[in-house]
Amino acid sequence: MTVDTQLNVFSGEEGLRDFYDPDKNLPVPLVELPSRLNPFREDGVRIYAKLMSHLPATNVKSLPALNMLLRAQEQGKVTSDTHTIVEFSSGSTVISLGILSRIMEIPNVKAIISNKTSQIKLQLLRFFGLDLTLLGGPVQPEHLDPNGGIFVANEWGEESGVFNPDQYSNPENYRAHMRWTGPQIYAQLPDISVFAASIGTAGTMTGTSLYLKKVKPSVVGLGVLTAPNDRVPGPRNYNMLLPVEFPWRQSLDFMEEVGSFLSYEKSLELCRNGLLVGPSSGLALVGLLNFLKKRKAENSLDMLRNRDGEIPCVFICCDQPFQYIHEYFDKLGHSYFLPIKNEELFATDLYPYNIDWEVTPEHAQQLVFSPNRDSSGLGKVPIIVDLRDQANFKASHIPGSRNLDIGADTLPNPYKDPKTLVILFDLLDTRFTATDPEYGAALREKLVLLLSRDGNVARLASSILRHRGVSAYYVIGGVDGWRASGLWGSVRAQL
Ligand SMILES: Cc1ncc(COP(=O)(O)O)c(C=O)c1O
Repeated sequence: MTVDTQLNVFSGEEGLRDFYDPDKNLPVPLVELPSRLNPFREDGVRIYAKLMSHLPATNVKSLPALNMLLRAQEQGKVTSDTHTIVEFSSGSTVISLGILSRIMEIPNVKAIISNKTSQIKLQLLRFFGLDLTLLGGPVQPEHLDPNGGIFVANEWGEESGVFNPDQYSNPENYRAHMRWTGPQIYAQLPDISVFAASIGTAGTMTGTSLYLKKVKPSVVGLGVLTAPNDRVPGPRNYNMLLPVEFPWRQSLDFMEEVGSFLSYEKSLELCRNGLLVGPSSGLALVGLLNFLKKRKAENSLDMLRNRDGEIPCVFICCDQPFQYIHEYFDKLGHSYFLPIKNEELFATDLYPYNIDWEVTPEHAQQLVFSPNRDSSGLGKVPIIVDLRDQANFKASHIPGSRNLDIGADTLPNPYKDPKTLVILFDLLDTRFTATDPEYGAALREKLVLLLSRDGNVARLASSILRHRGVSAYYVIGGVDGWRASGLWGSVRAQL
């Protein structure tokens, strides 16, 4: 077993386990925001993002999940007889428990979750192999509500072979951050003045801030909550914090409440500037900026300054944005996103394409004139459908071919001009309906070779005909390409 932290290699039977061990990893990155994202840079404020999103499970809750499981093993609450972990959680904690349990060879993880959880979230949890049980009632129940999921998970945890970590009351939740997050931040930024984190279970805020205050008592702890009656995934509101039994009061000097709109907006801004973090990270940063704005307005920024006159601040980034992408659109509205060009194509040309339906002029020549010698095994005389305008067809064509003039020869390339594509698709799609006497059901399962002026219209027609069960092929480059290959003359010669 070896770990090379410089090259980030984790090898051997224990390599995967080591990969999840913060003591065998580099600290997660601490990245300073450039001035364009820091409106207080000229006031000496420096703002750093602590990217817990860079942990192997890509979220902050994997540290409490690991610490709760490791301590439970040490205390004999998790043994080789433990077959199931159960937790009330709809997000990061239970996903982390799911991943870590597998690594620790505990086979089942059950999640008790609200019946108001979105389908996308349910799929995410099932993706990680979690065994889900829905429960009615509030999405975020109180700890002691006997109808709530936290209570129910506690009860299930009493069964033999089952362990309920209970992030809401287990001190190993916040101690994970005293063990890892706090020491990492202090080592990375000993000058830190302000520490800001969103508050859900209060584990991150309590553990990190208590550690920082122990080693540097002047550090200011700022907790950021969701505004009343609003929701951001992860954090909670002030009323939900009150019953929490962790020593969060000692960790907090100030609190800010932030709404969901601003949280998603700030997170989007961070993502677009290179920091791929989710809505609760936006909430923490907005809370920090609001706090700094108030200190500046009341001329009290100086109380936060270090001896060198600067105010280094850290805010926690809990996870990545990807699982919430649809929520950014719902929350912020379409004005935040560039419109999609050529939207008319959403409703046209939706049948599959396949490069195997393409034939070269050489191959076409063989198919038409020596089908039995054709090495591709098609081996039948094809029905040739020539999609050029009548005048061009009349001037020169393959004997026996049918002309379907759709007026395309003078139109632009449909793949470069969406309007043309819509027109030609509709024309061909209507023409190739089953009831058409010439190009409908009669062509089904027949071998058809499509020709057009430059090959593009024939390619479009092949997609439509294939959708209707016709073995349609098209000549790449069309008649123009056939001519350019020098073979069209021999077609004429064989007339
Ligand atoms: C995405 C996200 N952000 C923030 C938090 C809050 O962290 P904590 O529970 O440590 O207060 C959570 C907690 O689940 C979370 O999942």
